[in-house]
Amino acid sequence: MTFFMKTIQNKYISLESIIKNRMRIKQSSIQTIKAVANVLEIAEDFLTLKKKGTNWWSPCPFHHEKTASFSIAPAKGIFKCFGCGAAGDAITFLMRYENATYTEALEYIAKKYNIEVEYDKNINIDEAKKEQTERESLLIILDFARSYYQDILLNSQEGKIGLSYFKERNLRQHTIESFQLGYSLPMWDVFSQMAIKKGYNPEMLLKAGLSTFQEEKKQYLDRFRDRVMFPIHNLSGKVIGFGGRILSSGDKKQAKYINSPETAVYKKSEILYGLFQAKKSIQQKDECILVEGYMDVISLHQAGITHAVASSGTSLTKEQIRLIKRFTQQVILIYDNDNAGIKAALRGLDMLLEDDLNVRIVLLPTGEDPDSYVKEVGAESFLQYIQQTAQDFIHFKTQFYLQESNSPLKKAEAVKEVVASISKIADPLKRNYYTKEVAQKMDISEEILIAEANKIILKESEKNNQSPAWQDTETEDENYSSTPLEDTAIAESPLAYQEKESMRLLLNYAYYEVENSISLCQYLLTETEDIHYQNPLYNQILHIFRTELEKGNLVNMDYFLTHEDPQIATTVTQLIAMKYQMSENWLLKHNIKTTTEEETLQQLAFKNILRLKQRFVNKHYEQLNQELSKTDIEEDQDYLLIKAIELKQIEANIAKLLGNVIFR
Ligand code: UTP
Ligand code: MN
Repeated sequence: MTFFMKTIQNKYISLESIIKNRMRIKQSSIQTIKAVANVLEIAEDFLTLKKKGTNWWSPCPFHHEKTASFSIAPAKGIFKCFGCGAAGDAITFLMRYENATYTEALEYIAKKYNIEVEYDKNINIDEAKKEQTERESLLIILDFARSYYQDILLNSQEGKIGLSYFKERNLRQHTIESFQLGYSLPMWDVFSQMAIKKGYNPEMLLKAGLSTFQEEKKQYLDRFRDRVMFPIHNLSGKVIGFGGRILSSGDKKQAKYINSPETAVYKKSEILYGLFQAKKSIQQKDECILVEGYMDVISLHQAGITHAVASSGTSLTKEQIRLIKRFTQQVILIYDNDNAGIKAALRGLDMLLEDDLNVRIVLLPTGEDPDSYVKEVGAESFLQYIQQTAQDFIHFKTQFYLQESNSPLKKAEAVKEVVASISKIADPLKRNYYTKEVAQKMDISEEILIAEANKIILKESEKNNQSPAWQDTETEDENYSSTPLEDTAIAESPLAYQEKESMRLLLNYAYYEVENSISLCQYLLTETEDIHYQNPLYNQILHIFRTELEKGNLVNMDYFLTHEDPQIATTVTQLIAMKYQMSENWLLKHNIKTTTEEETLQQLAFKNILRLKQRFVNKHYEQLNQELSKTDIEEDQDYLLIKAIELKQIEANIAKLLGNVIFR
């Protein structure tokens, strides 16, 4: 778990760096940075790695696991997880691990290796700088407001009303202070006036969301009036906004809470209330409790349940999930017991599964919220209640929809809903487990559920235009591995496998000599000139190779790893990582040191091309056969038959050639 600590200490993603991201780093600078970046050294900033063979290993930071499937191959400059398939180079590691942008990742590396970063001057630096200072000003003003509201609550006569409100709700002094709670006076513009008098720029007061401007009277007014104030902090503890609650509970004319509007520093969808206070505890307990309100978080904290955060009344977002995931994979959602609310909430929760979080759901007794319930029963019973009633998300959802489905039609809907969730689960073993469970619970056959789930997965992967999961490969002669449909949704065809294999060779060994100073790249590109690959991404990559080669440029894998099209970058990363997996398998299986691929490259390339052609021929042959069965026109039949015979001859030739390839 040490890597989490490092993430926090390592605050390189500061506001400043976000601003800097708007500037482009000079191409020459990028080259220098890439050249020195050592994926192992960089990953070691965050992970504890152990050497085993030529690779370094640790539990994967990108999915939850207890074993070490995450490996670094320093020689290749890449990382790869055999569990979840995550793979990439030093830059992508930082981008994923730290949620960093491309520029931020480069800057991190530059800083680490003491390289000066040069930026393209044609981008407007002044503009960016202005923005940077603006953000800084906003944070300063917001912190000023925080101390002002706090001071009123704690030290002024007028603030006593706010303080007694909190006391009435059983908050202790220490809690009030640690959440930096405050109070805003019941007047129109005291805060704005005072801030302006102190020299704060009125424009900034507006931009911070603290004041509003009244056009008619040309007057700055306070946004928050006569409310107890809940400062909202970012991860590093800076105040970025406020929630303000009215004191009376009966006042129906006013909104119970007023919140800061979206500003340059406050993005509601990217913040979880209380996370700054809770993060350490979430990490230690390896669990996060998610509630709805400010008061829920505070009450739970006061009761000693310090790993609670709130989504502040809105439904959970992707960014918030990513935030939680930096600290834990276990999430407990606590809901009030109201059916309409639950149904709405359930819809959005599949996201949590996609991100491989373990989600459990707790319903409180009717009429209670976490704040009231913990006050009523105390922390111990509260936690006990959670442990006893928490239901895993899929089970909960199944149960919930079953209750509602009183007709066959409703049941079909229920099945769809639950299957949609199951299909989002990344881990095939887990998916399998739930399929069995749900089939039993819903009294429906497993096959139907699997078929339904596969339909969804297939659709998704088509949408993303990439193969859905990592596939095991072996270069050992005949076999290609087709993984069962359940695991990967799409079984790989022999042709697809061969295409992939040829791309892997190309990317790994482009400039190795295969014969009489002919590079593998030249050989492969010439041989595949007339071939149109099934996989459109491969065609794109081949096209890049060709056009660059014509211009006299040698492109290698680095060129692709940071390609602007993320699909290409991912595809290439996976192709490069494949070699690794293969050698590891080999090692394990034969318990020997294998001959390296480099040594047998010539045969490998030759054989690969032949196989590829063989697969294409086979496919054509099948197509011809199909056409043949469809046509009654004699001339067409003749034509197709001749073609088919030609293909058979080609196939025989290929087979003969293949038989002559000596393969060690
Ligand atoms: P709740 O109504 O559950 O509020 O709304 P609460 O936190 O339990 O507050 P108390 O106990 O009544 O004092 C949950 C959250 O929804 C947002 C707030 O973030 C609140 O904490 N909310 C609610 C608003 O933003 N505006 C509102 O008018 C109401
Ligand atoms: Mn409440």
